[in-house]
Amino acid sequence: MEVVVVDSPEEGVALVADALATLVARRVDAILGLSTGSSPEPLYEELGRRCDTGRLSLQGVRAFLLDEYVGLAADDPASYRTTIRRQVVDRLDIDPDRVSGLDGMALDLSAECRDYEARIAAAGGVDLQLLGIGTDGHIGFNEPGSSLGSRTRIKTLTEQTVADNRRFFVDREQDVPRHVLTQGIGTILEARHLVLMAWGEGKADAVARAIEGPLTALCPASALQLHPHATVVVDVPAAGRLALVDYYRWVYVSKPSWQGI
Ligand code: GLP
Repeated sequence: MEVVVVDSPEEGVALVADALATLVARRVDAILGLSTGSSPEPLYEELGRRCDTGRLSLQGVRAFLLDEYVGLAADDPASYRTTIRRQVVDRLDIDPDRVSGLDGMALDLSAECRDYEARIAAAGGVDLQLLGIGTDGHIGFNEPGSSLGSRTRIKTLTEQTVADNRRFFVDREQDVPRHVLTQGIGTILEARHLVLMAWGEGKADAVARAIEGPLTALCPASALQLHPHATVVVDVPAAGRLALVDYYRWVYVSKPSWQGI
């Protein structure tokens, strides 16, 4: 696992945007895994700036969302499909028909999950999966206790995650769904490159447990330790509890400049 400690989220998202641009330059029809939440927002803004100035085009890519709330319509302002439409589809030159999300209103949720797995596999699998991390160490919506081999399925959120997500339900805080559909940890681990971004002191504990703690279902993000190409990009406050922070910095500054993340 590569841990990159940056001085600001802006510096971090520039690195991730470079990696994405390199991927798309190699493969115009690359498959991206999009995550929702506040952590990837500055990245989507940076990608938007690059598309606006003609430095990047995502016209050929396909994208799969990581997760979705159960019971929210696709056009609900708090649904992840709407969030991605607002932050990514409306902002970048990505083809809306090539962006897929889970339908949390499907009559048969299990069939929806199975079908989603099949669609990802039929597309050839995800090349680059963006991830955030929950304060309890979850990735996607894989809460503590999730099987490290889990596939896309329905999950029940912890009270902490419901509370954390209340801020996205303006004027209807009581409506935060308790149930979600999420790619499983086993599904996520099949992506060819995982990039987890975390900003701020509030994530420091989860980041330390994910990177330096034991591999355990109690911290789902610790599953990244199993992946052959996982990159964690954190700002200084989010890196605040990492024991080997000096080493990670040393590794990064010693890297040849041609080598991306
Ligand atoms: C939600 C999402 C996750 C995200 C997490 C952290 O639970 N399902 O994908 O990583 O929130 O969000 P934020 O980046 O806003 O802290």
